Parts: sequence; C-alpha cells; structure tokens
Amino acid sequence: MTQIPALPAVEPERLPSPDSVVALADSAPAASLVPDHPLAARRLAYAHDAMADKDFAAAIDILEQTLELCPGSALVWFRLGEALALAGRAADAARAFRQTMQFDRQGVLGAALHLSRLGAEAAPPQPPLAYVRGLFDDYAHRFEAHLTQKLQYRGPEQLVAALEAVKPGMIYSAVIDLGCGTGLMAKALDARCVTICGCDLAPKMVAIAERTGSYRRVAVADAASFLATHANVSADLLLAADVFVYVGDLSEIFAQGARVLVSGGLFAFTVQSSDGADGAEYCIGEDLRYAHTPAGLMRLARDHGFAVKVLEPAVLRKDRGQDVASLTVVLERD
Ligand SMILES: C[S@@+](CC[C@H](N)C(=O)[O-])C[C@H]1O[C@@H](n2cnc3c(N)ncnc32)[C@H](O)[C@@H]1O
Repeated sequence: MTQIPALPAVEPERLPSPDSVVALADSAPAASLVPDHPLAARRLAYAHDAMADKDFAAAIDILEQTLELCPGSALVWFRLGEALALAGRAADAARAFRQTMQFDRQGVLGAALHLSRLGAEAAPPQPPLAYVRGLFDDYAHRFEAHLTQKLQYRGPEQLVAALEAVKPGMIYSAVIDLGCGTGLMAKALDARCVTICGCDLAPKMVAIAERTGSYRRVAVADAASFLATHANVSADLLLAADVFVYVGDLSEIFAQGARVLVSGGLFAFTVQSSDGADGAEYCIGEDLRYAHTPAGLMRLARDHGFAVKVLEPAVLRKDRGQDVASLTVVLERD
C-alpha cells in the first residue's frame, strides 16, 4: 500500500469562503452537493471559522457531527477532507475526498485534485470541466483586478514579448486564443493580429471577453473541442496564457493544434514548471494547479511536428507573495 506523506500546512486563507463554496455547489446540477439538512449550512460556516482559526480538531468534530445529519453531502465530506488534510491526517483526508467523489459525480468540488496533491492518486489527465467552470464563473467579476494588481500577472505581455523575439514585427492573420478568460491576451496582442477568436470553459469569463469587442467570436468550449471545430491549416497563431495549469495531458490539444496551424505557424503558451521529481511529465502542485516538465513539453513538440523556438523560465505571477515558477514556450509548426 502506498505511504501517503504528511501534508505541509496549507494556509486557511487559501480555502474558499463558505459562501463561495455554497455558491459553487448551488450552481452545480447535482443536488446531492447541497446539504439536505437545515442545520448543516450553519455548521459548515462554524467549521470554516474553526479552520480559519487553525482549530482543525474543532472543525473535524463539527463536520463529523454534520455528516450524521446528512451522510450523503458531498460538500460536507469535502470540507472534512480539507480539515483533515490541514490537520496533517493525510490518509483520513484521502478517504474523505474519495467519499466526496461518490456524491459529487460531476467533480465540481475538485476532490480528485486534492487526492493527487495528497499523493494518494496520480494526477488526472485533466480536472473535471465542471470544477474549472465553477472556479472561474465564481471568480470572473474580480478576475482582472485581482490577477493583474494583487498577483502581478504578466502572462499575456510575456507571451507577446516572446513572440516578438521569434518573429519581430509579425502581424498574424488568424489567431486562436485558448482559455481566453476576460480577454487580456487579445488586449496585449493589440494591433499584431487581423482576426482573433477565443474559447473558454467559463460562460461568465466569455461574457466579459465578448464585451471587449476584440474577438471576432468567443465560444464557451474546452480548448481541444474548440480546436476540433477549426479547419486544417487555418490559423497562424495559437495562444494559451495560464491555461495549461488546468490541463494535465496536453496531447489532444497539441494534436489538434498541429492540424489547425499553417506551416511556420506559432503555438505560444505558458505553464507552471515541474522538475519531474516523481518521473511524471505533469503533476498537481500544492496550489492544486498542474505543472509540466520541460522534457515532457519537448517530447510533445517532437511527437506533434513542432520545433521549439522558446522554452524559458519565467515568473508570470505571484502566489501569496512568492514568485510562481513558470515557463514561457513558443513552438513553430514544421
Ligand atoms: C488563469 S485564466 C487565464 C485567462 C487568460 N488566458 C489570461 O491570460 O488572462 C485561465 C482560464 O482558462 C480557462 N480554462 C481552463 N481550462 C480550460 C480548457 N480546458 N479549455 C478552455 N478554457 C479553459 C478558465 O476558465 C480560465 O478562464
């Protein structure tokens, strides 16, 4: 049996507030996410307060009692998993997250990522789409201000600088912005493109991107499916700024990207970087985001007919005051 390592302490402020967790659950189609007992929501709030005070034992107590009222509540199992993980009880936390997955069939709460972070399971090839959609629909209204000011996010600007280094002064005719969010990438690319279209999993992010007027078309779609709707050799630039932190296995995106790009077309993206210590090409980090190894990206490039033009360490943003180690990548289609 695999030994589950003790978890380093995760700051409680990283936890979503009870309100945002309930909002997330409310927006999920699975009714079993919402506690089915009137006292349960209040107890969830007490447990959250206890966790914010780092009184994990009290939080665990409250949540275990709450489960007696509503044993099928994914949300309560999930909060228990978080509290147990914060208390350093990784094996018990893993059990609670597995229970969560029994009741949260769509994976909205992202328990699979927590299991991977605990070392109890390998990183899934991608997170549940409902999890990513819930996360960003919830975040959309404050995304730009929070990311660009508080977290000093510079992904789009760094990608534009990398593109300039590869093809100075180039104007792209048909650009596809994968995971376009609120449209920061189109803004950074500015006059360097004739047409740009985008996609994003989160409808509320797409609504904001549409309002910028920069995109010819923005679809609510996941990156690989959106690429699949494009004709062969129909784009000269593919972009994905800070998106592959939500995609583990990039093979389908690379395959579709290689098909859609013209020869000489560029594929520019960022990833968080992994040193591949566990031998995997991608993993889930402490921040529940995917990180990829340079070797894994180079293998994908080779397998799908791309030459590596740029693969450089970068700092794209901060996480609680610390630089997040990332890579800026520009590939050229053969
Ligand atoms: C951190 S934001 C970055 C947004 C934008 N690219 C930027 O640089 O401002 C990540 C975005 O990727 C979207 N996303 C994550 N996984 C996706 C996928 N598989 N397909 C499409 N969009 C995805 C999320 O909904 C979110 O809006």
